[in-house]
This record gives sequence, structure tokens and C-alpha cells, in this order.
Amino acid sequence: MEVLNSWDQWVEESLSKLEALQLLRSLRPIYLRNEPQNPIGDEYQKASKPIEDDFEVFDKMQPFDRSSVEVEISEPTFLKWVHEVTSSGDEAVCRDDLGDHKSESCPRRFKKLLLFSGNDYLGLSSHPTIGKAAAKFQNQAAQEHGMGPRGSALICGYTNYHGMLESCLADLKKKEDCLLCPTGFAANMATMVTLGNVSSLLASGRKPLQHERVAIFSDALNHASIIDGIRLAERQGSVEVFIYRHCNMTHLNALLSSCTMRKKVVVTDSLFSMDGDFAPMIELVKLRKKYGFLLVIDDAHGTFVCGKSGGGVAEEFNCEKDVDICIGTLSKAAGCHGGFIACSKKWKQLIQSRGRSFIFSTASPVPIASAAHAAAVIVARKETWRRREIWDRVRDFRALTGIPISSPIISLIIGSEDKALEASRHLLRSGFHVTAIRPPTVPPNSCRLRVTLCATHTRDDLKRLTAALSRCINFQDISINGSNVYARM
Ligand SMILES: Cc1ncc(COP(=O)(O)O)c(C=O)c1O
Repeated sequence: MEVLNSWDQWVEESLSKLEALQLLRSLRPIYLRNEPQNPIGDEYQKASKPIEDDFEVFDKMQPFDRSSVEVEISEPTFLKWVHEVTSSGDEAVCRDDLGDHKSESCPRRFKKLLLFSGNDYLGLSSHPTIGKAAAKFQNQAAQEHGMGPRGSALICGYTNYHGMLESCLADLKKKEDCLLCPTGFAANMATMVTLGNVSSLLASGRKPLQHERVAIFSDALNHASIIDGIRLAERQGSVEVFIYRHCNMTHLNALLSSCTMRKKVVVTDSLFSMDGDFAPMIELVKLRKKYGFLLVIDDAHGTFVCGKSGGGVAEEFNCEKDVDICIGTLSKAAGCHGGFIACSKKWKQLIQSRGRSFIFSTASPVPIASAAHAAAVIVARKETWRRREIWDRVRDFRALTGIPISSPIISLIIGSEDKALEASRHLLRSGFHVTAIRPPTVPPNSCRLRVTLCATHTRDDLKRLTAALSRCINFQDISINGSNVYARM
């Protein structure tokens, strides 16, 4: 694996250049105690117990779980949505909510909806243990340490709570280390910009020549944050981008074989957010062996959902060691907030020294970091039934509709914007929250209903949803084009 070793060498050389320029940056965690101020007796015992033992876990769905999929919208919002009236959302705020008790009360009528459009795949957004971790985390993370992280991670916003979450995520992803970022968007931006920095650092201050640049091969349907990160690196003259047709390994192979640049990177979403299909991991691994590129995946939708222990799409395809950098978010299946980059210690050091969206943005609040840690522990190691449930729902949907979906993200491509909006309104009137996805999120004339399944949906929910869907979509007319599902109204 000569070229892969070259990547190790390039990263090391980049780090030495940064050191010489005095631009290497370190994390220096502020230590926040999680034991009581003056612990005595039992309280001390409790505080020094391994924290994971204090997480309350459940072995099946509980009533609280339903609030992850049952939502309400106000009557005025409902009417605006049904009549397609543009709204800035202010109809949802009552004068009373603003504390104006002198005003007349707002009419408080609400519509209950069943949510089939979120990314809270395991229903953790309403888990009481995670809520408790945010509010209390054993001993008042929120109450004692407050919400505001005070600064960016490199200044004073990084704490032992962030460190604990990073090491938990590194373990989950079977990587040496992990770097938390304010969001998944920031994590992708930081990674792409840092990749470009490798060529500019190695060029020692001059603009890298064409063959010295980093060649980034990017799937045509990658997430906006990857695209924007690459665009930024491109503007800096440090990378050249090659877009390959969605999941098309023949095209990728052709591009790789005709590229004479040595520093090659392939970046792909692992589970595509708008199409619900998987990147061809096994073929990517084969190509990586052939060309020695650095493989970067964005596992935003696979993390915690795929793989036996929730390690994500790479665990599912048993190729964790072939993925060099794994980006993820804590805002989807973890039901919290924030992004992360699981990688080697050297890559971490480089990204934390060069990734501007990491460096120049405030760290995640401590309660969020402690809640995300609780979520990671709960889903990865304890409440494994949640993963079973969500894949059961995928099977249920397949059986009810005959549509061969492969993940909890179901993309029913309708075509025109008007038709997609009409279908979404029909579902709204039937009590379902399913939004129409339109350009620029997806290409013109591929407007769709994006239905997402959750571990806290029941089979009965799916029966009701598919009955409503069948009144606006003809399942028999659905044809499979690549991995997408095209529907006819
Ligand atoms: C594939 C993918 N990557 C990255 C992100 C960004 O994550 P975050 O919402 O944490 O910024 C998203 C979220 O929409 C996503 O779908």
C-alpha cells in the first residue's frame, strides 16, 4: 500500500511544517468536576462510580418514546401549509409566549401530526436519560457549569466532558481519536479545507503546482457541507475536484486511472440523505487498494443506525479499517447536536490546527456534550432494541408497499414541485408530517417526498401512512431507477 503510506508521510510532513511555523494547535481541556461540591458518604460513592452505571436504560419502547414522533402544529400554521401560504413562522408565537399577559389570549388550537420526516432515527431526542444528562449529568453539568461554553475549543470551550465524548466516539468508530466540531456541517468543512492545506503546506508557502495539489473525487450527490468545503479548498488553489456519477464505480475508476496527481482522496456520504441508498463500500475498498487513495466518509445518517454496535455503515460492511476519516453528526440518531471527525491522532492534530470551521467557532455547550455522551453509550451498548426496531420498520414498509427500500430513508420521487407539494399537503390533511423536498436540495424535476422511519414508529403507524400514501401515489407504478424510487401520481 505504497500511496497510503505516502498519505501518512504527507500528514507528518504537514505537521512538521506547522510546528516550524508555530501553527500547531492543542486542545487543553478545562476540568469540570462532576462530583458534588463537598461530597460525603454515599454521595461520594455515587459520584465516583463509573458514570455509565447511572444511565437508566429501557428494554423496550416506553410511552415517552412516542413524543419523538408525535408533534403538534398550531391551527394557523396548518392552514398556511395546506393553502401553501408562505410563512416566516411568526403565527406559531402567541403574545402569551412572549410574556405579554395583558394581551388577549391566542386561540390555542393545535393539530396532532405523526412525524415521518425527521432524522431522529432511534427516537432518542425524547429519551429521559439523555435529557437528564443534559440537565444534571450526575451532578448538575447544566446547573453548575451553565450552557455557554465560553469560547471555541482551542481557547477555553473544551472540557473533560468533550474529551469523554470524543473517546467514546473514537471507540465506536474503531479509530485512534476523534475531534468534536460545533456541527456536522462544520466537521465536513474543516476536513475538506484541511485536506487542501496538505498541498499548500508541502509547497512551503508558494502556490502548489497542478500535480502537487490534492485530487478530491467526490460523489455527485454528496452533502452540501462536503461540496462547500471542497469549493473553499478549490478557491485556495490547493485541490482539484473530480465529480463522479452517483455511486458509479466504473466512472470513479476511469477518473482515478486517468489522474496523474499523487495525493488522491475519495469522499462520499455513506448513506445518502436524500436518496436513502448506500455508497458501494465494498467496491470503494477495492478501488482504495488499487489506487491507495484516502477514503473519507460522511456517516451522518449511518452512525448509531447501521452496524451491530451502531458503529455505522463501515461497521455494517465490515470495512472500518479501510475508512481513513469518518465524519458524523450527533444531531440525527443521537438525538442531540454537534459534529465529529473520527480519525488518527495525526489527522486530528492537523484538522484542529487548520480546520477553520472548527477553530473559529464556539465549542458545543457542556450539557450537549454530556447528553451526546449518554446517547452514544445508550444506543451503542445498551438499548440495542432500538436498532432492531428501526430495521423491522424498514422490512414492514417493504412488505406493505412492495417498494424495495434499503434504509430508513425513503425517497419517493414525484417529479415536479407542484405535484410533490400536493402530495405533501394530502399527507398533512391525513395527519402526517412529510415534507416535499425541492431544489436546491435535490435537482429540478426530482422533487420528492422524503419519508423517514424511526424506531419509535409502530407497524400500525406504517399501515396508516402507507394507506394515505396509496391515495396519492400508485405503488404499482413505482419503478426503480438506480437506487432511487420514482413514483407516479
Ligand atoms: C449527510 C450529511 N452530512 C452532514 C450534515 C450536517 O450535519 P449537522 O446538521 O450536524 O450540521 C447533514 C445534515 O443534514 C447530512 O445530512
